[in-house]
Amino acid sequence: MKLFVFSCALAAAGAIASSAQTKKPANPLGDSPQVAESGRVLYNRTCTGCHGPDGGEGDRAPALDANRRYFRVSEAAIFEVVKHGIPGTVMPSSGLPDNDVWKIVAFIRNVRATASDLVVPGNVQNGMAVFTGPGKCSGCHMIRGQGGVLGPDLSSIGAQLNLKKLQETLTKERPVPNGYRPVEVVTLQGETISGIARNSDAFSLQLLDKKGALHLFDTKELRSIVYADHSLMPHNYDKVLSADQYRDLVAMLAVQARTKVRAQLQGENEIGR
Ligand code: HEC
Ligand code: HEC
Repeated sequence: MKLFVFSCALAAAGAIASSAQTKKPANPLGDSPQVAESGRVLYNRTCTGCHGPDGGEGDRAPALDANRRYFRVSEAAIFEVVKHGIPGTVMPSSGLPDNDVWKIVAFIRNVRATASDLVVPGNVQNGMAVFTGPGKCSGCHMIRGQGGVLGPDLSSIGAQLNLKKLQETLTKERPVPNGYRPVEVVTLQGETISGIARNSDAFSLQLLDKKGALHLFDTKELRSIVYADHSLMPHNYDKVLSADQYRDLVAMLAVQARTKVRAQLQGENEIGR
């Protein structure tokens, strides 16, 4: 608990520092994919003794990507840290020339970007047609008030996930997140109801059925409760959709950023995911 309060205070300090820094010069090399890529190569050569490859978590230093909270937000603040290190920690001064440091800055900003920060190739309108048509996504997901409720609302998914994670949700089996565990119950009257377990404890079960109705059961009223290990979310869309449909679907999801403004405000504090 103490640690948590401590890190909040640090995050707040970071936010203040970063807003003071927004007027400092931005990356003179820009942030094109080419610059970010040369930064990635430099980073992997120079920094992975402590940080993980490609900005992931390392043995001796934290991840620099969007998977955690971080304190340095602006390009200038990241430049400062990479150039001069962080006093009082093992984070060293890199000793690299400014140009190389700026390339690494572009790379770090790039790995932190969410899908909606990028220009993702594909036709958004066709992607929406796939979502409601052959993809059958709208049976389970809502975008701007249209669709099903079994899966999470995707109206701001582009601002929540980076592009790689977004693609993985469609193509890779992942552990079932809390609140989405599939469950099938049989009542004492012999009726079978299946859906996802929104909430459960030893005495009660909140079940959201496939039509979107919420049932609250006393577990004593149930003959059986069987949980499944696999999410209802299919994860083979790169195979069941055509290459064009898949590309357009991803492009459409990437621009879903209803809460973009809020996400950007949070981004100013860099509340990583
Ligand atoms: C000797 C180990 C070591 C090496 C090498 C190293 N780092 Fe670090 N780095 C750390 C540690 C430890 C921290 C966390 C410091 C702290 O507690 O704030 C850190 C923090 C950072 C941060 C700040 C993260 C934040 O929360 O804002 C950035 C950016 C960073 N490193 C980039 C780099 C880059 C780029 C390189 C290579 C040029 C590099 N580091 C090389 C150990 C290292
Ligand atoms: C049978 C219902 C169902 C269908 C069909 C379905 N999903 Fe899902 N989806 C879910 C559920 C439930 C979750 C939450 C559990 C999980 O992540 O595995 C989920 C999770 C997701 C996530 C991750 C959301 C997050 O916040 O991390 C994305 C993105 C997604 N689905 C997109 C799609 C797209 C695009 C389609 C159509 C191509 C689709 N889903 C089809 C049920 C479904």
